[in-house]
Amino acid sequence: MKRTIVLMASPRLQSNTDILANKIVEGIKSVGSPDDIVEQIDLVEMQKYVCCACGRCRAAGQCLQFPKVTEKLEMIKEADGLVIATPVWWLSSSSYLKIFIDHWGAFLRPDYTSRISGKRAVLAAVCGNPQEDLAEKVCDDLRQILSFLGVKVIGHLSVKGVADHGAIVRETQSLESAFELGAALYTK
Ligand SMILES: Cc1cc2nc3c(=O)[nH]c(=O)nc-3n(C[C@H](O)[C@H](O)[C@H](O)COP(=O)(O)O)c2cc1C
Repeated sequence: MKRTIVLMASPRLQSNTDILANKIVEGIKSVGSPDDIVEQIDLVEMQKYVCCACGRCRAAGQCLQFPKVTEKLEMIKEADGLVIATPVWWLSSSSYLKIFIDHWGAFLRPDYTSRISGKRAVLAAVCGNPQEDLAEKVCDDLRQILSFLGVKVIGHLSVKGVADHGAIVRETQSLESAFELGAALYTK
């Protein structure tokens, strides 16, 4: 039995990011077993829980400011794998994802070793600019964060030139790649 957490980081309903993440989940399920669990965390709901830099999370292993954040961090601690999907916002991930990642100090012990090492992850990012692939840069940034935490990034998918709402449905090759990425999460 595998437990997977999907971090959804776009505020748009039926966003390009959502569509991509859902394809990845289809891929995960295509090779999984019936008792596998896939749970989503809608990061838009977490926007009001901004890290206040109290610095107590590393020793505590949880967020002492916001129980709701601790609840979501525990979901990740109990999971085998992570799917992180985000739109590019000004050369970075969306603010919703950044606000949540800022709480990942709770994944570190005081000596900077990781409480979540050994988990697996796949990443996806989408950007509007057809020329410059900032989605690739964002995936690379996320990969560095996860590697620092000892999480094995199995693969990533960056899609550029997708600006309009839902435009990614026309990117059939990218959707196929998203499916394959999901299928690889626990098989590669
Ligand atoms: C606040 C904001 C900042 C953005 N910054 C960039 C950017 O730096 N580069 C880019 O290529 N696209 C940028 N975009 C465009 C989005 O990445 C693009 O529209 C994407 O498809 C949105 O995905 P979604 O439908 O999942 O929300 C930005 C969009 C917003 C709302």
